[in-house]
Amino acid sequence: MKQLLRRLRQNKLTAEQVRQSGKVPSHIAIIMDGNGRWAKKYGLPRAAGHHTGMKNVRKIAVAASEIGVKVLTLYAFSTENWKRPKEEVEFLMKLPQEFFPLEIQELLDHHIQVRMIGSKERLPAYALEPIEEAIERTAGNQGLILNFAINYGSRMEIMEATKQIARDVADNRLRLEDIDECTMSERILTADLPDPDLLIRTSGELRLSNFMLWQLAYSEFWFTQAFWPDFDEQLFFSAVREYQNRKRRYGGL
Ligand code: FPP
Repeated sequence: MKQLLRRLRQNKLTAEQVRQSGKVPSHIAIIMDGNGRWAKKYGLPRAAGHHTGMKNVRKIAVAASEIGVKVLTLYAFSTENWKRPKEEVEFLMKLPQEFFPLEIQELLDHHIQVRMIGSKERLPAYALEPIEEAIERTAGNQGLILNFAINYGSRMEIMEATKQIARDVADNRLRLEDIDECTMSERILTADLPDPDLLIRTSGELRLSNFMLWQLAYSEFWFTQAFWPDFDEQLFFSAVREYQNRKRRYGGL
């Protein structure tokens, strides 16, 4: 109650206000960018930026859950990020073993279900195990799906789905003339999730960086100059409020 009154006095949006001001996106996808530049701004090593960025995940996941978002997909590591210096890749790979033990109780308290999209193949065991444990422990939760895109690349995802389709046709499980958009949607990594309604990218960059190319076909985009570690609930709520004022036409009138 005290917190709510403080927020109202400071003219800050509350989760309740956002929920009541229009349709809340079912699926929000975020490209969490700008950790390195955030660190530079404060004269800190890049790792400090990633660490502060990791801590921000809980705040935004809880805010998403409080306004009734069903799925929040966070781009945490792309298939291209392996090109970064070895020490930085190692640091990023070690984040799950800190994040999940630290935040699991909060995730459970909010009935959040953890998931992952991306290839597990190249991930070291020390990264994969805490993720898999969190997935297992939260599997029964019915709240927000917190979907981490880790070692994820959309072209790879589409390519793999295409191979599956080709195999199904070659083995007479699928007829060429029956291929439609669902044929692809059912074979990509988000097969059981709705497409994102809203894509957010932080740090002022205006590109997709191989993220959910198929799924974002009709999503609304929202960009902010803020670096990911500075992206707070208020900015998140502003993005949702702007989404609520957009007219989605899906190519129609
Ligand atoms: C992009 O910023 C950010 C990343 C490549 C890493 C994002 C990961 C997190 C925020 C933590 C995820 C948490 C878990 C638990 C997996 P950048 O380094 O490209 O920033 P720059 O463009 O300013 O250099």
